[in-house]
Amino acid sequence: MKGLVLAGGSGTRLRPLTYTGAKQLVPVANRPVLFYVIDNLVDAGVTEIGVIISPETGAEIRKALGDGSAFGARLEYILQDRPAGLAHAVATAKPFLGDDDFVMYLGDNLIGMKIREAVETFRSDKTFAASVMLHEVPNPSSFGIAEIDASGNVVSLVEKPKEPKSNLALVGIYLFRKSILDAIAQIKPSTRGELEITDAISKLIALGGTVKFTRLTSWWLDTGKKDDMLLANDTVLDDWLTGGIDGTVDAASKVSGRVRIGKGARVENSVIRGPVIIGDGVEIVDSRIGPFTAIGDGVKVVRSTVEHSVIMAESSIIDIPRLEDSLLGKRVVVRPGISRHGALSLMVGDDCVVELSQD
Ligand code: G1P
Repeated sequence: MKGLVLAGGSGTRLRPLTYTGAKQLVPVANRPVLFYVIDNLVDAGVTEIGVIISPETGAEIRKALGDGSAFGARLEYILQDRPAGLAHAVATAKPFLGDDDFVMYLGDNLIGMKIREAVETFRSDKTFAASVMLHEVPNPSSFGIAEIDASGNVVSLVEKPKEPKSNLALVGIYLFRKSILDAIAQIKPSTRGELEITDAISKLIALGGTVKFTRLTSWWLDTGKKDDMLLANDTVLDDWLTGGIDGTVDAASKVSGRVRIGKGARVENSVIRGPVIIGDGVEIVDSRIGPFTAIGDGVKVVRSTVEHSVIMAESSIIDIPRLEDSLLGKRVVVRPGISRHGALSLMVGDDCVVELSQD
């Protein structure tokens, strides 16, 4: 069984945060979403993984994942030269996939459960051609939607239907055998000009294949927008963070709840209220951090309060009485400019400087 992780695209969805970066590398609790994807595959015993990359962000994805040894995986990078659809990505990976069964996993999907059980069932029971993961959503028109029958089979799949037949959305995790490649060879691009994986699975059913499904029993987070990102961060900090202090905390500081502090980080005369993750080389001086906050590597927070926020690497927050519900990109500087009172709520891209009023 192989893995096929889709990590292409041009990163437009999370603009400005991904103007310069891949959406799959946006951090949740200080780790790129893509890392959780690889972990989940490896946990299911899937260690031979093809990673689909795009010309725009491929180099960055490679740099982040390397050869996969840090995850216990062996990675092969496969360039998809244009964003021609999920089924096109699978067809591009044909030489890598060979005759093997495989798990296809969209690299920007974060779920709260292991896929191990679904993978094991698919490995041992060869009577079905594919299996998809489904989750009920309130806005079915924004997803691939499945219609199922009473015997637990998928009968149809439509990509982002205007009139949805159910509220069961395709979570971006699919189990396939090589038969999907024959189905892909028989479909045409959709009206949006893409080879849709939903059409390929429908073709598989039309050709007589049985498609099963697993219902996701955990949360599933879309990391597309600021509020989604903050929610993803809250959920991961809440569910998965283990405390531990590798940096230094002086006697004048107070750390409570689940707090992880990275190597070379320095906390002076500050209060940290978990769940909070603080990266390597961070400086927190005369400040209050948390709860529900992720501070990336090399960040500086001085004489400020930061709550319920994601602050990415190498940013600085200086003399800000209260920053909350905020998502800051890399190397962002927030400091007082002209006088102003009250709480702040920001979404700022990479390399920005925000100067706030003061009175
Ligand atoms: C893709 C799939 C869609 C699926 C969704 C899950 O859509 O095409 O079927 O429901 O991922 O995240 P996208 O997020 O690329 O719009």
